[in-house]
Amino acid sequence: MPTQTMPGALDPIGSLDELYPVLNRECYTAGWHKARPSLWKEPRTPFAPRQWRYAEARRHIDLAARWISTEQAERRNLLMFNPVGDNDYASLPNLVAAYQMLRPGEHASAHRHTPNALRLVLDAGADVYTVVDGVQLPMVPGDVLLTPGWTWHSHFDRGLDDAYWIDFLDVPLVHRLESMFFEAHPDHFQTVESTPAVSPFRFSAADQDRLLADARETEGARCARLSAPSMRTVALTVHQFASQGRLPARRDAASRMFAVITGSGSLEVDGETFTCQRGDVIAVPIWKTHRFTADQGARLLEVSDEPVQRLLGFYRQERIG
Ligand SMILES: [Fe+2]
Repeated sequence: MPTQTMPGALDPIGSLDELYPVLNRECYTAGWHKARPSLWKEPRTPFAPRQWRYAEARRHIDLAARWISTEQAERRNLLMFNPVGDNDYASLPNLVAAYQMLRPGEHASAHRHTPNALRLVLDAGADVYTVVDGVQLPMVPGDVLLTPGWTWHSHFDRGLDDAYWIDFLDVPLVHRLESMFFEAHPDHFQTVESTPAVSPFRFSAADQDRLLADARETEGARCARLSAPSMRTVALTVHQFASQGRLPARRDAASRMFAVITGSGSLEVDGETFTCQRGDVIAVPIWKTHRFTADQGARLLEVSDEPVQRLLGFYRQERIG
């Protein structure tokens, strides 16, 4: 017959200090006795502002291409990781960027995955293209190309020059959500079914020009959102700056990456100044005050996780000055 013990009467645990190790063994944390707080006033992040330089990455990837082919590598890319803790992959908590390169005659085989991806083409000659679900899209410097989650995608260099671009993916977000699915194409290649002049998956420099022409100019800066309803986790914005044009300083509850499409300038992030050239990438973690100022003119691509923060009701912003 089960016995019942009166609480406290015969319990061998005589104090909270004796109770804590018992709780710990049984995987409880007393809410009033946590080692770390679980709530705080405003966003915190261990991720730091960080810059990656195209000229430097290009030297490294050119060297690597002597030894690693696209036959051996799923992708010949250099991931831009933020050196925080043991992280060796993510650029920011929800985003990763990478420099990728193809040599003439190479192709990056077809695959698909739940993460969304996009590319900014830096340097490419004629006959370089991406295929998305059987649709062939040219890759021309300045282009932004989308490969939404679960679309088959592959890349080809059928020209005479090496091709370079920047990939942006929401893989770190998918890692957190644990909803990764990946599949290699059974034939490695996709059959090209169409080569349209216009596609919702490609924003050429001319497309960007048209969108920017309709935008209002403030302090020598115009910005245009690239409409990408197929990419639900990232917001894509193109900024065009006149000489000395600048963005107002701001901070908000999103993390973002800036890539320099053309020109040069400097990005101040929480008092630190990053001078950047074409092809450079800068990561701005959440809630860091930032402001870009162009030199003689510049165009930037901004990739942010703002739609995720907004969808979940977490988004806040603050304009400074
Ligand atoms: Fe991919």
